[in-house]
Amino acid sequence: MVKTKITINKTKASRLNDVDFENIQFGRVFSDHMFVADYANGEWQNFEILPFQNLDYNPAFNSLHYGQSVFEGMKAHLDADNNVVLFRPMDNFARLNRSCERLCMATIDPQIMLDGLSELIKIDKDWIPKTEDGALYIRPFIFATDQYIGVAPSETYKMVIFTCPVNKYYDTAVKVKVEDVYSRAASGGTGFAKAAGNYAASLLPAKIAKEEGYDQLIWTDSIEHKYIEESGTMNLMVIIDGKIITPPAGETILGGITRLSVIAIAKDLGYTVEERQISVDEVIEAQQNGTLEDMFGTGTAVTITHISGFGRKGVDYELPPVSERKISSHLKNELEAIKRNKKDSHPEWLVIVK
Ligand code: COI
Repeated sequence: MVKTKITINKTKASRLNDVDFENIQFGRVFSDHMFVADYANGEWQNFEILPFQNLDYNPAFNSLHYGQSVFEGMKAHLDADNNVVLFRPMDNFARLNRSCERLCMATIDPQIMLDGLSELIKIDKDWIPKTEDGALYIRPFIFATDQYIGVAPSETYKMVIFTCPVNKYYDTAVKVKVEDVYSRAASGGTGFAKAAGNYAASLLPAKIAKEEGYDQLIWTDSIEHKYIEESGTMNLMVIIDGKIITPPAGETILGGITRLSVIAIAKDLGYTVEERQISVDEVIEAQQNGTLEDMFGTGTAVTITHISGFGRKGVDYELPPVSERKISSHLKNELEAIKRNKKDSHPEWLVIVK
């Protein structure tokens, strides 16, 4: 039951018929509508669903200068009865608020977000791809709108949720470089938050890695560059001798909702999961003695993406062929089935939009 009072203004010219759902570039195609709200005078207000369009912005918006901007990523699928299924939306909205708190921004009632998103999704339901790997990617974000050249928390904000039909983020397994010069996050910083600036700071090291022939990075701790943290687009898991090992999410590692879900599913299925620090040396040793079975990333956009190999200090290390990675493929199939409401193992994770 939607309680938030939302003004709805639908488009008169849907773009749906122009979309080739089999061939969508991730993040480049936007559905017809968006949900927006403003924060001013200490409260969120002006809840509106509008045609997807440009927003008014002022060159002095302090988000453009001082970076008060946070976002989320989540997905919706259709189930066998053609219902829209949202995967763990309240966990994403809780994380959005944790990011807001860290960046000294106004938080928002998760129920308002869920109400707005539910209405938005009902209107744009036909934008959910029916392709095998398809999903509606949902992008909630909040940014500061005070017009002020001075470093201070904004008193006004804009919140937007828009959606994109997507297929896979990565088409194949990715080759990653272990980063040992740059750092993504340090103790006491913003690494656990989904802050726009975290991603900006990752672009140059990722560009250098691409020039060296890698698809992405593995970030390591900022003190010794010894322990694995996460990748630019996903949390990381390693399988050594049948055990799934993943660094604990904390101050410097994003608390991925997919990461949490994969850990829970793995335990349900009887696999051993160790949440502990894992050094690059331990992974290299396992690769050399033949016990490194798998490395993969988890994330909303990437779901579960295999890592084909990794490089450190110019030396490359191969991983077994993806066809041999039985555990991560099992986890991926289970996760994707749960998200599409084909399994009843975690009903608490799903919100069905009626
Ligand atoms: C997500 O997984 O939703 C993210 O925000 C990461 C980005 C690579 C799209």
